[in-house]
Amino acid sequence: MDYYDQVNEAAAAVRARVREVPRIAVVLGSGLGEFANALGEAVSIPYAQILHWPASRVIGHEGRLVIGTVRGRGIAALSGRCHVYEGHDLRTVTFATRVLGALGVRTLILTNAAGGVNTGFSRGALMVIDDHLNLMGGNPLVGPNDDRFGPRFPDMTEVYSSRLRGIADRAAREVGLTLPHGVYVALLGPSYETPAEIRYLRTIGADAVGMSTVPEAIVARHMGMDVLGLSCITNMAAGVLPQPLDHAEVMETARRVRVQFIALLEGIIGQL
Ligand code: HPA
Repeated sequence: MDYYDQVNEAAAAVRARVREVPRIAVVLGSGLGEFANALGEAVSIPYAQILHWPASRVIGHEGRLVIGTVRGRGIAALSGRCHVYEGHDLRTVTFATRVLGALGVRTLILTNAAGGVNTGFSRGALMVIDDHLNLMGGNPLVGPNDDRFGPRFPDMTEVYSSRLRGIADRAAREVGLTLPHGVYVALLGPSYETPAEIRYLRTIGADAVGMSTVPEAIVARHMGMDVLGLSCITNMAAGVLPQPLDHAEVMETARRVRVQFIALLEGIIGQL
């Protein structure tokens, strides 16, 4: 069976479980899965119950699709994503994004945990992604293009919608949150960066570094979705502070900011 048919079978499996498919979806990054519990009238579908859906085994990533409401609006929340560093190829990593597109999602909010490359940031800050640098060493659109998904050479001039970034700013003001903007760079991982790599990334214009989001953003734009990206700066990047990096710190910071993070997301969704 070809990839397009697999995506549509998965979408049909989801459609069969819910009354109405939302037009807005949120992908929850490491430690940020709590938002899925804030949804009203929720239907929770473990990924294992969705045909062809790949599994992720990273600690802090749950593996379920929750469809419910926030401020009366229908939302699909993905708690758990799979990463290239787990050994998945980029088509597998972006399968969930394809399914969301096939379901009719038009607005995709991608969230992640990221290291702060910009020394003006501090641990626990939330950042709006203005643009990205793809240093993953691959692109999810490599291979024959399926025109049913989108064009061969999609434009990437405005991956992250300026309208949605403006809405994020307004929502942040309403909840009294300072919301810096910046460029997110995606690397393959899973090892964290070296201090030399972080100096290099800063030089080329990165503000935050992580191991996700960019493939999903590319695929979402390929399908014509509007994308908003939010990073939780869970730690300062390697070499910024005189201490080693640790996944436990990432998870701990994400947990610490969850109330702010949920308030911001709810504020954004309320204005969509
Ligand atoms: N580097 C890469 N990915 C990350 C980091 C980091 O410092 N923190 C959270 N995800």
